[in-house]
Amino acid sequence: MEALVCKKLGDPTLPLDHSDAPFTLSTTHPIPELTSPTSVRVRVKANSLNFATYLQILGKYQEKPPLPFIPGSDYSGIVDSVGSKVTKFKVGDPVCSFAALGSFAQFTVADESELFAVPEGCDLVAAGALPVAYGTSHVALVHRAQLQPNQVLLVLGAAGGVGLAAVQIGKACGAIVIAVARGDEKVQLLKNVGVDYVVDLSKASVIDSVKGFLKARKLKGVDVLYDPVGGKVTKESMKLLNWGAHILVIGFASGEVPVIPANIALVKNWTVHGLYWGSYKIHRPAVLEDSLKELLSWLARGKITINISHLVGFSEANLAFAAIKDRKAIGKVMIVFDNQKLARSKL
Ligand SMILES: NC(=O)c1ccc[n+]([C@@H]2O[C@H](COP(=O)([O-])OP(=O)(O)OC[C@H]3O[C@@H](n4cnc5c(N)ncnc54)[C@H](OP(=O)(O)O)[C@@H]3O)[C@@H](O)[C@H]2O)c1
Repeated sequence: MEALVCKKLGDPTLPLDHSDAPFTLSTTHPIPELTSPTSVRVRVKANSLNFATYLQILGKYQEKPPLPFIPGSDYSGIVDSVGSKVTKFKVGDPVCSFAALGSFAQFTVADESELFAVPEGCDLVAAGALPVAYGTSHVALVHRAQLQPNQVLLVLGAAGGVGLAAVQIGKACGAIVIAVARGDEKVQLLKNVGVDYVVDLSKASVIDSVKGFLKARKLKGVDVLYDPVGGKVTKESMKLLNWGAHILVIGFASGEVPVIPANIALVKNWTVHGLYWGSYKIHRPAVLEDSLKELLSWLARGKITINISHLVGFSEANLAFAAIKDRKAIGKVMIVFDNQKLARSKL
């Protein structure tokens, strides 16, 4: 089978035939066997590319698998074969899931408990884009911050993978959503998905711009800060937070870990949530499972839609990594097998 094998750490934006490229596209990798009576082999259709995988190939992510490895992330596909005790799925079922490793390949194997049925009406590529980005934002906003209708939600990195998910989930919860992003194209997309206000960081600063909006709408401040960026923009955003606000620490796309002053958190009764979505699989699997089932039903009903700005084949995987690195991604970046066929998908 074909598989994208990372044989050394390095810059994943280099073309696959470059001598320093960390990847090779193997065409002779063995097809994985079922590993237990409850395991399922999936013919992979679409893989989502997340910022974490970019960091992992560079050697800068917290989880460092031994080399060589096939990267993995969230994916979708069709059940290809099932173990003798599998009860939830049959050959031909559309499924999605997420993997720490191994899904950047034509086939992957997972236990049936790790797979989610893709409901009728869901595009298979969109279902593969959903678990990490939408799962993270849903657990953060709904389970942790318990976002309420008419609360003010401020989303940083709002046109990125997790950011755009947070914006849509915030709107679905009835919140007043303020989005922060850079550049006309991102701002336009955020307006199209119905945000209440957008700050274009290439033209305005967060503090003055958001203060103007809050004043015009007679709102006191921000109730929930969703932060996948860190650095200077986080520091500025903290000046906009209400008494009793929730800060969701999601990631550090800026490369800078922000300092949240404990003295101000005390005086203002802030709650700071560190959130590592993947660890819910170990510590609170039911929360993660319920969350993904709800999101898939929202996707099937059109309550959320997934914007895919880049859809590339495996031989051009470096272009997908470049979209992440160059901040060109708007919503999700997908790597697909069978590119021709998938180009005709509903997206
Ligand atoms: N905690 C968790 O469980 C979890 C789950 C998923 C992701 N994450 C983390 O969340 C962060 C964002 O992930 P993502 O998949 O949404 O990434 P993404 O699609 O690349 O979006 C990141 C956004 O951050 C903004 N940004 C600001 N400074 C940046 C910089 N120096 N380099 C790159 N982007 C910068 C960009 O927006 P502008 O260009 O508009 O400023 C970009 O749209 C990452 O740190 C990732 O590891 C955490």
